[in-house]
Amino acid sequence: MNFKAPVLTVDGPSGSGKGTVGLLLAQRLGWHFLDSGALYRAVGTTAVSQKIDLSNRAALVQLAEHIDIRFIPKAGDDLMAVMLNGEDVGDSLRTEESGRQASIVAAIPEVRQALLQKQHSFRQSPGLVADGRDMGTTVFPDAILKIYLTASAEVRADRRYKQLKDKGFDVNLRRLLDEIRERDVRDAERKASPLKPADDAHILDTSQLDISGVVEQVYRLLQERQRRR
Ligand code: C5P
Repeated sequence: MNFKAPVLTVDGPSGSGKGTVGLLLAQRLGWHFLDSGALYRAVGTTAVSQKIDLSNRAALVQLAEHIDIRFIPKAGDDLMAVMLNGEDVGDSLRTEESGRQASIVAAIPEVRQALLQKQHSFRQSPGLVADGRDMGTTVFPDAILKIYLTASAEVRADRRYKQLKDKGFDVNLRRLLDEIRERDVRDAERKASPLKPADDAHILDTSQLDISGVVEQVYRLLQERQRRR
C-alpha cells in the first residue's frame, strides 16, 4: 500500500502567526515541520551573497535544486534551528530584506517548480505541519486539514516589529507596514501560486486572537478530522 503521511497545512501572509502556530502544533503532535518560506528566503539570500542577479532564472533554479535545508526543533523562544547546507544560520533568514528577496525569487515559476519536490520530501511519518503560502493549494492539495491564517496589515506589522525588535534588529514600524503591504500585493498578484486560501481551507482571522488560542482551535479541528477518517 502506498502510505502517505498526513499533512496539516498552515498558510497565510507574513505576520499572520502561521510560523509560530505551525511550530507549536508540530511540537505538540510530534510531527515534522516545513517552513517553506525559509526555502525561498534561502534561495534569495544565497543568490545575493553569490552576486547572482535575482532575474537570472537559470542560476536561481540551479540554487533551488541544490539547496540543503533542515529544520531542527529546539527549546527556547525560537523553537527551531534552520540548518542551511549543514550550518545553523540563526536569524539571518528572518530579516525583512531576506523576505523581500524571497518574494522576488518566489514569483519565478521555474524556481517554484524546482522547490516543489524538495517540499514533498519533508512529508514523512508520523506527519508533517507545512507552513507557507501555497501549501494547501499547490504543494499538499490532499492535506488532512488546511488552515489559512490572516490578520490586518497593521496587526501583522506590529507583530513583526515586536518579533524583530526582540531579536535585536533595528526596525521601523512605518517602514515595516509599507514592506508588508508591498509584499502582500506581490504575493497575491503573481501568476504562479498566488497567495489565496484553498477552497477547502478553514480561515481564521488572528487579529484579535492570541497564539495559544489559535493552536488549541486548530488542534481540535485536526483531532475531529482524524476521528472522521
Ligand atoms: O513566510 P515567509 O515570510 O518566510 O515567506 C517569505 C516569502 O517567500 C513570501 O513573501 C513569499 O513571497 C514567498 N513564499 C512563497 N510560497 C511559500 C512560502 C513563501 O511564495 N510557500
